[in-house]
Amino acid sequence: MTVQKPTEKDGIVELLSENDKKVLLNSQVRTSIDSISNRIPLDMDTVRACVRKLFSLGLVEVENEASVSYVLTEKGKKYQKEGLPEYRIARLLEDKRGTTYKDLDSLGLDRDELNAAIGILKRENMIEINGNQISLTGSSSKLLHKNSSLNDIADKKEIDMGLMDEFKRRKIIEVLENTKEFVNITALGSDVIKSNKFSVRFVDKLTQEAIEDWKTLSFRRYDLNADIPVPLFGRKNIIKEFMSMVKEALTSMGFKEMKSNFTESTFWNFDVMLFKQDHPDRDIQDTFYVSGAKAKTDKSLIKKIKKVYETGFEENPYNLSLGYDSKFDPVQSEKVILRAHTTATTFRYIYNLISKDKDKPARYFSVSKVFRNETLDQTHLPEFYQIEGIVYDDNLSLRSLIGYFYEFYGKLGIKKIRIKPTYNPYTEPSIEVQGFNERLNRWIEIGNSGIFRPETLTSFGINKRIIAWGFALERALALRLNVEDIRQLYGPYTDLNFLRGVKTSLILN
Ligand code: PHE
Repeated sequence: MTVQKPTEKDGIVELLSENDKKVLLNSQVRTSIDSISNRIPLDMDTVRACVRKLFSLGLVEVENEASVSYVLTEKGKKYQKEGLPEYRIARLLEDKRGTTYKDLDSLGLDRDELNAAIGILKRENMIEINGNQISLTGSSSKLLHKNSSLNDIADKKEIDMGLMDEFKRRKIIEVLENTKEFVNITALGSDVIKSNKFSVRFVDKLTQEAIEDWKTLSFRRYDLNADIPVPLFGRKNIIKEFMSMVKEALTSMGFKEMKSNFTESTFWNFDVMLFKQDHPDRDIQDTFYVSGAKAKTDKSLIKKIKKVYETGFEENPYNLSLGYDSKFDPVQSEKVILRAHTTATTFRYIYNLISKDKDKPARYFSVSKVFRNETLDQTHLPEFYQIEGIVYDDNLSLRSLIGYFYEFYGKLGIKKIRIKPTYNPYTEPSIEVQGFNERLNRWIEIGNSGIFRPETLTSFGINKRIIAWGFALERALALRLNVEDIRQLYGPYTDLNFLRGVKTSLILN
């Protein structure tokens, strides 16, 4: 079906909504959009939308006019109420002979305000200072005009340029720059208003009644040829695109992907890794709890964990494992949370797969969401993707772990990384990975890792080493794209044009 764009005025009238007509009627002399909005009255967004349409139909012209206006700052408002400091001092001196500096304290001005005001009075030759004594040589009325010009500014009246400059300098007023849009009808617009059809009420919305009465009603026409302002192309979200790259990197390094769920029991998230049951990470300030849910875990496994938790691990090769020497409460293990790390999944895989075939080396990864009760800022998101990795093999060491960092981040094109020791209840040693964010000009944590403590593995009958890590996906992407604020990548603050414009080649190597 092709629809002809109507060019003659009657055709155009049929495209106009009642609001469009009102706006057009109010544009017969050059008028600003906000005064149209006040006059009709109709909210600004609607008026703007109508103006855009009238413009695209050639019925109005639109002009932007830059203008400045002056408003009182907070300080200015205070002075408007109490009087300018120099005026108040002059008034005080007028009332009181033999005034000293000390007496001026009663005005409650701060040091800078006081000094500035005294300076002004001196320059105006209005005061004389003799030691501690200050006296007025003229009359305070000399400052009356200046003082009352603050009211003029509040009332949006003009004041003289000299005062304006002084007030600006003293931060009593601030300059607001705004652009105003003005609309003015075109000849075609005027013709359209004169058309016989202009006063006909066209039906805007198709209701059941309108359809039933269709023969007697006039319907507004829709311009099916109108341009659509939104670019008609989509793209994969850059986080997803980066995620594919991460998965590809790990797959090429011989890792298999683990499956997991967003909810997890506190047993798998914390207890199995021997987090103390009163560890601060478990607080509701840090972790999201799912109310009313309970999770059951293999009783014999809980028993084993409980034993290590309370009394340690006898077969420990270093003979140093004493446990926490406090009671483990299995009821605490039943709570359900939005998992705080994917290491919970890693331990499920240790239990379900690795412990069942201890001779077979294994490498697993997951790239999935974790949830922490964090306040959103430049480097923190309350839910983010964690890149978990685990390697089970003979002869693993800290060197192997560090080797994986360089190999993995190298594949992502992130070269500037460094490591530092850290602490986790379940790894020893524990290593933090940092990346250099050029924009923030500082090192930020992009991962945490370590060698699992033998205590965490003994319940699974594992006595080989396991190395593992959790890397932060969005922080790595921020480095890759050279953005300083993670909120640019997703969440309510993203700029769609930025996201659309990111070149895939910037993400994919
Ligand atoms: N779970 C840790 C975190 O969330 C990362 C980690 C994984 C550390 C595996 C050591 C071993 O930060």
